Amino acid sequence: MQTQVGIIGAGPAGLFLAHLLYRAGIDSVILENRSRKEIEGTIRAGVLEQWVVDLMIELGQGERLKREGDFHNGVTFQFSGQRHHIAMDEMTGGKHVTVYAQHEVVKDLVAGHLAHGGRIIFGVTDVALHQIESEHALITWRGDSAEEELRCDFIAGCDGFHGPSRQAIPTACRREFQKIYPFGWLGILCEAPQSWHELIYSRHERGFALLSTRTPEIQRLYLQCEPSDDIANWSDRRIWDEMQARFGFPGWTLVEGPIFQKSILAMRSFVCETMRHGRLFLAGDAAHIVPPTGAKGLNLAVADVLVLSCALAAFYRCGTHDALERYPANCLRRIWRGERFSWYMTTMLHLDPHENEFEQRIHLAELDYVVHSRAALTALAENYVGLPFEE
Ligand code: APR
Ligand code: PHB
Repeated sequence: MQTQVGIIGAGPAGLFLAHLLYRAGIDSVILENRSRKEIEGTIRAGVLEQWVVDLMIELGQGERLKREGDFHNGVTFQFSGQRHHIAMDEMTGGKHVTVYAQHEVVKDLVAGHLAHGGRIIFGVTDVALHQIESEHALITWRGDSAEEELRCDFIAGCDGFHGPSRQAIPTACRREFQKIYPFGWLGILCEAPQSWHELIYSRHERGFALLSTRTPEIQRLYLQCEPSDDIANWSDRRIWDEMQARFGFPGWTLVEGPIFQKSILAMRSFVCETMRHGRLFLAGDAAHIVPPTGAKGLNLAVADVLVLSCALAAFYRCGTHDALERYPANCLRRIWRGERFSWYMTTMLHLDPHENEFEQRIHLAELDYVVHSRAALTALAENYVGLPFEE
């Protein structure tokens, strides 16, 4: 099999890239090790920056998003027994907070790509990258029975944090940076109506909690917990009691409902600055991870592939490698800003068991400053809805 760009991974990075390349007249094949059903059912985050919404629409994939997405003017911060509305739209010239689950984005992009004849091969195993330092890159994998191969001009490693692409770069060439946080998130999906008209980020003395949504009938909520905690320790009653404590507000009720999904995720910040090695380009979670508090993960992944698709288009149009060489530098400024914002939101809103009372007071002072200073609020809002593209 042969193509121009071999894409490993059908997450948001791989799928957006395939659509962008298709629009530029560049052929690609996506290799995905899970089934279509699995990738379309994996529960992940759900906030899209304004320009990602616009891009979905521009690519002709935004019909369901326009119909079913939940568009908010801002978010609520809750701390020290008070709630504060953060008017994202007012601070950013009318940009919105869009809640549309990542797996819904994946469903739309898979269906749209297959509809215009795009090739996605699901359920592949033993994916391996070869000859990435030569002009004839090669990907091998195992399909139903035989070993298969894909010859390509370039490989896009869009296979998430645990995929083989980053590992294909020799360790001596890789520059990596990491921070592990001393907390995790317990996330649930439940059948209940919306309790509040927008997301609530709550800093509470029992720990952080986040109220989000999926549809008018299904809600998504998170609780800060120990990263090594076992979900078996959390009965539905214990979860609701903790939610009630951390969101509790006079005259307001958090509506409970049957919980049908629960899991715990650990949190880390990670950047691999070596996003290019020969003919291999890393994008999305394969190159960087953020804690979910800033809602940046999916958006940073899409930003990478937007830059990559432009560089590949320039190569196929004029034969020049310049933009491809600039790819890491062009992405890394935005990535580090996303890392900074995600770290800032995470440290400000969580209760770090290793911090003393002085440090905890500092976080409360930061929150107090954010909600009372137009300058601080503007800085937070422009990061949350998505910084403009300067590259
Ligand atoms: N072979 C083929 N595909 C693979 C392999 C492999 N060995 N390993 C992983 N994959 C696939 C995964 O099954 C997944 O579908 O690569 C895809 C990677 O997708 P994501 O993990 O969603 O990563 P990305 O597309 O970069 O999107 C970033 O995902 O984790 C969230 O918060 C993150 O929202 C952000 C988004
Ligand atoms: C979600 O809805 O899953 C969500 C929302 C906001 C975040 C993280 C996750 O910051």
